Amino acid sequence: MTRPAPRFSRQLQASAALAPVLRCLALVALLWGVTACATPALQLSANYQSVSPSPDGIGRVYLGREIAQTMGHEGAGWLDRPSRVLQERPQAAIAALDLAPTDVVADIGAGTGYFARRIAPLVPQGRVLAVDIQPEMLAMLQAELEAQGIENVEPVLGQPDSPNLPSNAINLALMVDAYHEFAYPREMMQGVVAALKPGGRVVLAEYRAENPLVMIKRLHKMSVAQVRREMAAVGLAWIKTDDRLPEQHLLFFEKRA
Ligand SMILES: C[S@@+](CC[C@H](N)C(=O)[O-])C[C@H]1O[C@@H](n2cnc3c(N)ncnc32)[C@H](O)[C@@H]1O
Repeated sequence: MTRPAPRFSRQLQASAALAPVLRCLALVALLWGVTACATPALQLSANYQSVSPSPDGIGRVYLGREIAQTMGHEGAGWLDRPSRVLQERPQAAIAALDLAPTDVVADIGAGTGYFARRIAPLVPQGRVLAVDIQPEMLAMLQAELEAQGIENVEPVLGQPDSPNLPSNAINLALMVDAYHEFAYPREMMQGVVAALKPGGRVVLAEYRAENPLVMIKRLHKMSVAQVRREMAAVGLAWIKTDDRLPEQHLLFFEKRA
């Protein structure tokens, strides 16, 4: 039998000795890769459950609530309907916000900017960051800003799981008829909390789920208890629920300083 030359023999012995170590390292690398890939999915499934989708839902459940489908930009005309002034009393909602002229307000799920445009004159030394995930909505908002000569509203393209706002930068986050359709509400609100200055406020306007006479699709309404549960889950403190609006709750929360 031919024996390897001594030099190669020593190398073979060294390789044989290293083999278990290399196998171990490969296993660790494999496990690390699998874990890293699986982590987002694991986190998602921890926060949400899947169900068969309702007619107006997306089949994802958060803290017992099925998330509603997003209103498409094709329906944007409904947001600017003249009857909204009487149905929702937006000026009463804006008065309830008690804004300071220097406030930086994020209108999240701004749509065509119905609220952002009306808030802009009340924060002349501040600004409004109008966040939406549909570029078509932001394009309609931009056209209105130019038509009306409004200069302190900035459109911001968000993502389904992030408002894409700078940290520690806003005094107030407003969500009108929008929060119930955020596909990843927990991640969105974590982003909102990070964007708030200490002592900053969050205000939600949501159609009253407790009232069957409010003629809005089931998943597009929310109860006070549900909103409070979901805001508490991201560490926001409830301040008050204001019932001045005809069909919507106005819920106020705070990021504790
Ligand atoms: C029913 S509209 C309300 C628009 C506006 N707040 C109003 O009252 O006129 C809801 C808006 O939320 C937006 N939206 C849904 N999910 C979002 C998210 N994760 N981040 C930002 N906007 C979102 C939709 O694109 C839509 O324009």
